Amino acid sequence: MGALYERLGLQSNGQLLQGLAALAVVYYIALVAYRLWFHPLAAFPGPKLIAASTWYETVCDLFYQDFPERLSKLHQRYGPIIRVAPNEIHINDADYYLEVFASAAKHRTDGIPSLGLGIDASLGSTVGHELHQMRRKPLEKFLARQNIRRIQSCIHGGIRTLDRKLLAAKDTGVPVRLDHAFTSFTGDIIGEIACGESPELLNAPNFAPECVTQWVPAALIAAIFPNSTGFKILQLLGATRVRKIAAEVEKGDSHERGSMFHQLLRSNIPDVEKHPDRLADEAVSFLGAGAYPTAATLIFTVYNILSHPEVEARLRNDLAGVMTDFDDHVPDFVDVEKVEYLVACLKEGLRLLRIFRRKGRVSIDKDLAYQQWTIPKGTPVTLSVYSLHMDPKVFPDPCKYDPERWLGDRYNPQMDRNWNPFSKGSRICIGMHVAWAQMYLILATLFRPNKQYRLSLGDCDDSDIYPVLDNEFGVPEGNRGLVAMVS
Ligand code: HEM
Repeated sequence: MGALYERLGLQSNGQLLQGLAALAVVYYIALVAYRLWFHPLAAFPGPKLIAASTWYETVCDLFYQDFPERLSKLHQRYGPIIRVAPNEIHINDADYYLEVFASAAKHRTDGIPSLGLGIDASLGSTVGHELHQMRRKPLEKFLARQNIRRIQSCIHGGIRTLDRKLLAAKDTGVPVRLDHAFTSFTGDIIGEIACGESPELLNAPNFAPECVTQWVPAALIAAIFPNSTGFKILQLLGATRVRKIAAEVEKGDSHERGSMFHQLLRSNIPDVEKHPDRLADEAVSFLGAGAYPTAATLIFTVYNILSHPEVEARLRNDLAGVMTDFDDHVPDFVDVEKVEYLVACLKEGLRLLRIFRRKGRVSIDKDLAYQQWTIPKGTPVTLSVYSLHMDPKVFPDPCKYDPERWLGDRYNPQMDRNWNPFSKGSRICIGMHVAWAQMYLILATLFRPNKQYRLSLGDCDDSDIYPVLDNEFGVPEGNRGLVAMVS
């Protein structure tokens, strides 16, 4: 060490630190200069501050959580295309959505690496186009609409349990946490569909509390809330469960078991793809993706229906035809989706619910052309669904929950071009048919006119429901959840 100090002409540790700090400053200045004047994206519109560094966005995320709103304002000032980060282009134009979120047949796209989720080997986190397609193919068939029709009996079972428990709460004066109920419901269904085994969250007394899973690591959750949904889900779909399925498939005694992981393990994907560590990542990812956004949409939509009596009245009226035989017969979701107003209630919920940050793709074979701009291949290009969903030219009075806007003369096809809650192209949400089936059937059950109980809002308000943070989960400010009274 002494010899090194001598060769560098240094006399103390302090001098070494000063030298390193000076080097870091010079490096950073050079990096900023490169980004501003020599980078392939240097000529694109947008403020220099966000072209030079990601610090601006980080500060917004840490202290203001309003980057999407700022992004909308930047687009008003600079036009539909801006450089939103040193190495990222953001486009605010629904008509360009399918060019970025392209199908595999159109052009190959890589995903943008997601940092810190710890499930890098899962489908949703797979960056490379080929590997992603290979992982997706065997799952796609299992989660196709036709197959969900075939296996929807598990959803029907959950519907009956939920309905029975709500009826039991009638006139007890005990508030029901519908947010817990919905998360338990979606957790049970994804457990059943993915692993052939429900975690039985719905059957837990008061449903299983799900309150902290977004904030606290699983091990801590397990210690504090041994019965919490989040932990149970991770437990169920973690390595243990996948190993059990692998053993069943190997022994060949699983022919009657038709879960997604059973199918995956029987498929002809390479053995390395069936490695327990890879499948454990997939399992955790499916549980999270399968349980959380569907529950969040239900919570948000049911809150809005209950707080708009005119919406609830029309929904009850329009559901009469399809729900006549309940509970002798829980209808097929395909019949329920014919109720246009029900679909409109959900589409409006999905429009306003602020989950998922801006998403993007990387075109790997060809440059993209947008207006007079050529975006070099290999550049991450993103679009913010939130901005598209809140565009006042397409959705007048955009903050208003207004299902009627999707119907009759008020509907205009541009609305569907702007509306992309499940994304599009080769990485479109693979579980959307499961999600739709659950959402249709739950809403139809809760708001059917011929039931013996009625829900009303308990002690909660917008602050407990409307997400304020710009993150993947859409976290609200308040924590009372969706509280309902049953009468
Ligand atoms: C209302 C409910 C849901 C919403 C709004 C939703 C939304 C999305 C979105 C926007 C993406 C694309 C992310 C991206 O572009 O990077 C996605 C992907 C994904 N979703 Fe969903 N999702 C929902 C329900 C589900 C369900 C029920 C499942 C499981 C059964 C699921 C599993 C997945 C998976 C595995 C991916 C990654 C797909 C891939 O990369 O090929 N989602 N979801």
